[in-house]
Amino acid sequence: MQDVSTPSLDEIQAPVADRLDLVMDELRRIITSDFDRIEEVNDYLALLRGKLFRPALLLLANEVGFAPDDRAVTLAAVVELVHLATLVHDDAVDHSVLRRGQPTVNSMWTHQVAIIMGDYLYSRAIMQLARIGLMDAVDVMANAANEMSVGEMRQLTAYDALDFSEEDYTRLIAAKTASLMKAACELGALVGDTECRAPLARYGHSLGMAFQVADDILDYTASEEETGKPTGHDLREHKVTLPLVGAMRGADEAGMALVRRVFDDPEPSDDAIAEVVDWVRDRGGVDYALDWADRYANQAAAALSEVPRGPATDALHAAIAYATRRTR
Ligand code: IPE
Ligand code: IPE
Ligand code: MG
Ligand code: MG
Repeated sequence: MQDVSTPSLDEIQAPVADRLDLVMDELRRIITSDFDRIEEVNDYLALLRGKLFRPALLLLANEVGFAPDDRAVTLAAVVELVHLATLVHDDAVDHSVLRRGQPTVNSMWTHQVAIIMGDYLYSRAIMQLARIGLMDAVDVMANAANEMSVGEMRQLTAYDALDFSEEDYTRLIAAKTASLMKAACELGALVGDTECRAPLARYGHSLGMAFQVADDILDYTASEEETGKPTGHDLREHKVTLPLVGAMRGADEAGMALVRRVFDDPEPSDDAIAEVVDWVRDRGGVDYALDWADRYANQAAAALSEVPRGPATDALHAAIAYATRRTR
């Protein structure tokens, strides 16, 4: 799927590479505990470095039209930490066993440990945010965290394949994913060029939408080796995402019967899932979702055209193509 011109993550992160290392140090410092079991999980999580996409966005947004501010490093650690807390909870909610190519907290330990650790990480992030003392930052972060929890609840209660509309999908991904990317960009501008706050928030929202659509496409197209997450997991969990919504438009009874077979079975077989994956691709569901991702990408680019040009803005431009066409 990746075309040769898709920028790499390294390229996007290059202008802020040194500061991203500081973010990781800061994150480890923030979560440190004197309680053994918590430290044990902390050590484990520290080994599984994610793509650091959100902190990179924050740092780049911070540098748009402005000299970098040290508080951005701490804010970036806070954002990555809230993301991490959400993933730890999400994997428990989704019964996922693999994340970043390694066993999830719920599978290494227990569901209970995952829930408590998610709360621990989240509360540490908030303590740090309070220490910075920027009321606007608290406001932005609190709103995003709240939206994400509503998004996760929407997901949990939206398992009726035949009923799930594009509007439902849009609302869901705006809440669970775009909200945090929007917040990351907004926070960067908050301790940077505040004139850029509104356009960068709009950019972050549209970018987050494209990012999640791409994630949902990867569930149909990419291997476990590429993403660090199992392929077809969304279908196994009876999650309706855009490629499936696209494929079901105008589908005949035979196709719908395939879909229903997976959704009516509490534990669908690998073969049944593979059959629906093939059907979705054959019906153009993946291309349909790619069109949506491209539309969000165009919106993100339009928002970005309102801020001053420079190396950080160029990297944010590259991030659009990356988010839309990424392979992991
Ligand atoms: C995973 O986010 C959750 C989604 C919103 C799809 P990332 O793909 O950024 O995960 P990591 O942090 O790189 O593991
Ligand atoms: C990831 O959501 C967590 C949030 C964005 C809140 P998903 O459940 O859709 O993503 P993966 O596939 O587990 O990363
Ligand atoms: Mg999940
Ligand atoms: Mg989920």
